Amino acid sequence: GDEDDLAIRPPVVTVMGHVDHGKTKLLDALRKANVVADEAGGITQHIGAYQVTTEVDENERRITFIDTPGHEAFTAMRARGAQATDIAVLVVAANDGVMPQTVEALNHAKAANVPIVVAVNKIDLPEADPTKVRGQLTEYGLVPEEYGGDTMFVDVSAKSELNLEGLLEAIVLTADASLDLRANPTQDAQGLVVEAHLDRGRGPVATVLVQRGTLRVGDSLVAGPAYGRVRAMLDEHGENIEEADPSRPAMVLGLNAAPGAGQNFIVVDDDRMARQIAEKREARERAAMQAKRRV
Ligand code: GTP
Ligand code: NA
Ligand code: MG
Repeated sequence: GDEDDLAIRPPVVTVMGHVDHGKTKLLDALRKANVVADEAGGITQHIGAYQVTTEVDENERRITFIDTPGHEAFTAMRARGAQATDIAVLVVAANDGVMPQTVEALNHAKAANVPIVVAVNKIDLPEADPTKVRGQLTEYGLVPEEYGGDTMFVDVSAKSELNLEGLLEAIVLTADASLDLRANPTQDAQGLVVEAHLDRGRGPVATVLVQRGTLRVGDSLVAGPAYGRVRAMLDEHGENIEEADPSRPAMVLGLNAAPGAGQNFIVVDDDRMARQIAEKREARERAAMQAKRRV
């Protein structure tokens, strides 16, 4: 793309951490912290990714969260060579401290060269020891800013909804300090499948993350070995949307099958081309599987 066509896109964030340290609870709480949420009384759809708008220095800033069991999604996407995540939020429960999967998660993020923001969670508990967490993670090379390092640590409680704005702000600041988040919104869309499933009424439903370009209703799409024309798109509130710009997650209806998480998608000129490419991909996958079986 042309340098002039590049526009700032929101950071894409994955939440990782040890089992039961509060990843799911935190994602739920952050979704509610959305300053432009119109969810009062509404039902939040289960979607594999969602976007939150926050205010930093009086500017509205959007952040995309990938809301799948962080680990598996991250691993599946990395195995496919796809980098979906710009920033990892490492959740550490302040009562438990650093645990084996905490270390695993931070190693994943480091290997992917993704900056980490540490959310020290459960600070509502009387036995919470956020200072200890800082000391433990310093030993793994995550040195808090307040100790002269370059990692932001934010004390939060997902349960009591404490300091969620502080966490959102740390994510925005980390993005601004260390990432060049620009993408061309004018080209044909490409991106990743975050998750997909077969819905009884609606057929295959894929949650996709647009990485470049703008995805529109009516576009012809190839997603992994699946293809189709985008019949409708929904946002995280279940509202119909006509288009999705870079870093925007959307639920796509109209594919002929449910592609796997981490598969990429591209928009092509027409349905015929979409089908041809999809069939080639499927044949290639089938051949690869047969080759594997022969070994
Ligand atoms: P897995 O997906 O199983 O790895 O767990 P998780 O990291 O998603 O943790 P989850 O959000 O399921 O929370 C685990 C438990 O901790 C639940 O009982 C939560 O209610 C509780 N919990 C989460 N956040 C907080 C918090 O800030 N304070 C307290 N006191 N409890 C919390
Ligand atoms: Na849990
Ligand atoms: Mg969970």
